[in-house]
Amino acid sequence: MSEKAADRIETQIVTVNGHQPEPELIARAGDVIRSGGTCAFPTETVYGLGADGLNDAAVRKIFKAKGRPGDNPLILHIAEPVQIRRLTDELPEKAERLAQAFWPGPLTMIVRHSAVVPRAATAGLETVGVRCPSNRVANALIRSAGTPIAAPSANLSGSPSPTTGEHVVRDLDGRVDMILMSDDSEIGVESTVVNMTLDPPVILRPGRITKDDLEAVIGPVLLSEGITSGAAPEHPASPGMKYTHYSPRAEVYLAEGTPEEMYRQIMEAAGNGTSGINGVLTTGDSQVSSAFLEQQRKDMAVLSLGDNPRDYEHNLFTALRDLDDAGASRIFVMLPQAADDTLAVRDRLMHSAGYRFLPKKA
Ligand code: TXA
Ligand code: MG
Repeated sequence: MSEKAADRIETQIVTVNGHQPEPELIARAGDVIRSGGTCAFPTETVYGLGADGLNDAAVRKIFKAKGRPGDNPLILHIAEPVQIRRLTDELPEKAERLAQAFWPGPLTMIVRHSAVVPRAATAGLETVGVRCPSNRVANALIRSAGTPIAAPSANLSGSPSPTTGEHVVRDLDGRVDMILMSDDSEIGVESTVVNMTLDPPVILRPGRITKDDLEAVIGPVLLSEGITSGAAPEHPASPGMKYTHYSPRAEVYLAEGTPEEMYRQIMEAAGNGTSGINGVLTTGDSQVSSAFLEQQRKDMAVLSLGDNPRDYEHNLFTALRDLDDAGASRIFVMLPQAADDTLAVRDRLMHSAGYRFLPKKA
């Protein structure tokens, strides 16, 4: 406790207009980045924790603030697509086409890195992740800083990614130099990460931009093992994939099957109400959602993620944090059926559950 208190740093918390970011506030944040400090900021996916992506010492501060393992590389954020050319000497033609189609936006491309990229950002790999975000505050900040901004999600390592300014303040106040608070994240799950050094390219982390979206532009794209298998991969394709991720304090359990089967699995697991608060996350089927709600059990906190995959993505991380706040010791989730546009939310849910499924009754 006292050790942590000694490490505390003064955090400036600033609220910025998401549509017309105030130039003087952005300039202040840009100064923080340029002078080697850390600044959290909104993006269209989730909030990020930024530092000068070309400054090794600055990038190290991110790992310290988050408690992030040093072998998990960061994404460099750029203000304009052409800026990727400084970060790599080998830009595959398919990467150019994807940049044209999806940047600025929620796509991260892994390419071989050039000599300017510091070791801390790449965790010693030969590659670097690059993304050009569309969020106005993010874009203005990168421009003002005048350097690519290295930024992981702005949560404590292992926690659900932050989709509101309040989430960031709760995780990082006292650990970073500045927090730019603004609108809630529009998308709500992190960017699609694609390894462009392979041909066909391989999706390492599914996101709003789906496999079908990518294939419409560049033809065949593969999914890394683990995204499809429903079990922890033996050899994670991306360093980040081997860590426990997106985990609320509560233990998460997944139900899979028809809505009725999932309902039965969850009611069975919730038992007789003697095991603390049971959180329930419903997806899709409004009848089943109301069936849970009609229980009116004091030991059950029921939240709906919505009725389509975009809503699930938007609501997921906030819902996990809200169920923690409601005191849930376990969270039961109705896992959406596998489809091109549910891969991202299934992936995050499987990680947050550590691939734990409720028993399927015969
Ligand atoms: O939407 C996003 O991508 C957000 C916002 C802030 O831009 N950022 C984000 O960063 O989610 P982070 O650090 O939480 O996740 C980056 C993921 C990790 O799984 C990491 O292992 C992987 O990308 N990654 C980064 N660089 C890589 C590389 N060179 N090779 C393979 N995987 C890489
Ligand atoms: Mg993260």
